[in-house]
Amino acid sequence: MVSYQEHTTNTQLIDWIKEIEELCQPEQVYLCDGSQAEYDRLCQEMVDQGTFIKLNEELRPGSFLCRSDPRDVARVEDRTFICSEKEEDAGVTNNWMEPTIMRNTLADLFKGCMKGRTMYVIPFSMGPLGSDIAQIGVQISDSPYVVVNMRIMARIGQKVLDILGDKPFIKCLHSVGSPLEEGQADVSWPCNVENRYIVHYPESREVASFGSGYGGNALLGKKCVALRIASVMARDEGWLAEHMLILGVESPDGEKTYIAGAFPSACGKTNLAMVIPPKGFEGWKVWTVGDDIAWIKPGADGRMYAINPEAGYFGVAPGTSYDSNPSAMDTITKNTIFTNVALTDEGDIWWEGMTKEAPAHLIDWKGNDWTPASGVPAAHPNARFTAPASQCPSVDPDWENPKGVPIEAFIFGGRLSTTFPLVYQSRDWEHGVYMAATLGSEATAAADNQAAIRRDPMAMLPFCGYNMGDYWAHWLSMENKVEQLPQIFRVNWFRKSADGKWLWPGFGQNMRVLQWVVNRIKGRVSADETPFGEVPKYEDINWNGLAYDEDTFSELMAIDTENSIREFEDQVNFFNKIGDSLPEEMENQRQTMLSLLTPKKESSAA
Ligand code: OXD
Ligand code: MN
Repeated sequence: MVSYQEHTTNTQLIDWIKEIEELCQPEQVYLCDGSQAEYDRLCQEMVDQGTFIKLNEELRPGSFLCRSDPRDVARVEDRTFICSEKEEDAGVTNNWMEPTIMRNTLADLFKGCMKGRTMYVIPFSMGPLGSDIAQIGVQISDSPYVVVNMRIMARIGQKVLDILGDKPFIKCLHSVGSPLEEGQADVSWPCNVENRYIVHYPESREVASFGSGYGGNALLGKKCVALRIASVMARDEGWLAEHMLILGVESPDGEKTYIAGAFPSACGKTNLAMVIPPKGFEGWKVWTVGDDIAWIKPGADGRMYAINPEAGYFGVAPGTSYDSNPSAMDTITKNTIFTNVALTDEGDIWWEGMTKEAPAHLIDWKGNDWTPASGVPAAHPNARFTAPASQCPSVDPDWENPKGVPIEAFIFGGRLSTTFPLVYQSRDWEHGVYMAATLGSEATAAADNQAAIRRDPMAMLPFCGYNMGDYWAHWLSMENKVEQLPQIFRVNWFRKSADGKWLWPGFGQNMRVLQWVVNRIKGRVSADETPFGEVPKYEDINWNGLAYDEDTFSELMAIDTENSIREFEDQVNFFNKIGDSLPEEMENQRQTMLSLLTPKKESSAA
């Protein structure tokens, strides 16, 4: 047993641990050192407890399968709160509760909630240890699953305490909310279905999470700290905390260009972060810095520098295959925790889309026998892998550079079957911020065959820790704070033809778009002006290795006036919802788009 007082002189931390111990009444308190031995021991304890299944050491060395409670399988946005002092600071896109009321509610829930459990104290750094851009938090949790996942997703343990010294830190309190009474046997995935709260206090930089052990609800460094709390810090300090991948495109002559990209869920973000250049791009490489989150700060040289605050990938498993993402498949060959995937008879893992044919027999994510005739998915659609970024074959040599990497472009993409061209560039920063703010993906197809767009500005809708209108204003204000701003692009890999066929092959072929983006940034190609923005000429896309004719390209890039007007008119509903905090620049941009699309009236002779 490590006595925590021997490992830190941070009185704030020592006092906080004591306070939480008194409140939650755990059986014991354990300060995590972050070592491999500690990780191995906790994994073994979870195997003994029935929480983990050790996978076949030959097929999947150092790896485990975990099955959650079927009622605890995803982030719970309706139970996620931004408890700012003032309601208007949370804005209409967040749930809000008065912080004192929330603190009282949670104090009642946390009282005695760790009875019979170990209270783990997990010091963590989001970002490379000692980087100026990194932030230190401490998570207290009663879940050993959280500890081992946090060891992959962040830098944890004594080395973090050494860097923290006596400085303040982000307090993150977590409990699965399932105390054990004397003699009560534990279940394999304790959680609390009745009471769930994922709470952020932005002013005091604190997180409190109760009732769930899954993903972003429980691994508090990720969405809670690195996005919701960090977005507020970024607003206050003049930087950006974004839901973005970071990749580096390297040309055959060694020129490297870093791009950050935001995509709502189900748009292939991890696939793009690890994209392998297709046939026709011999000598090109794409390097992965991050797959989910970017912290981007203005550097002394006037450029913006980004780090990936995370150290691992918490990726969606279903759909990941050697066809869709070979680098991800190589990353998860060892030392990986799989949650809610299926188990093969050989002691390996499987999920829908991993191979063309499903195995004849599996144990599904609920622990039941499964065959292809079962008629239910073998893996939960939100099944995940947790794997160290260092195992990714395309991990960028600079992925842990404490200075970060210089970002030259932002790309924003939704899943949109009509209206939106493959790629277009903003006319200027303000137009680009507007393009990002009106981002969205299709929800369900509406009766008139144009699908309704679910707006997800900057892919930050569930992750922005403050008022969305103020967030857009913050983005706009970067123009006055940064000399060399990244250029802004929108992409859409998902456009369909009138008869419903994909117009763009996607996956590795998206490299062609990345190359055009790089060429635009470097001023090597011109572009055509359209009402949407600047678009590539057919001949400026590298078509080596892909037969893609000019007519199909025209269809892919077409701007249909009627559909487009409908889109820009629809945006006003979202803007109205944002209310008073909407920066006027956004509405001006929307009006400009409409006027560019509306045919000019014949000037009548007076
Ligand atoms: C994620 C998400 O899990 O965006 O990364 O939901
Ligand atoms: Mn994400």
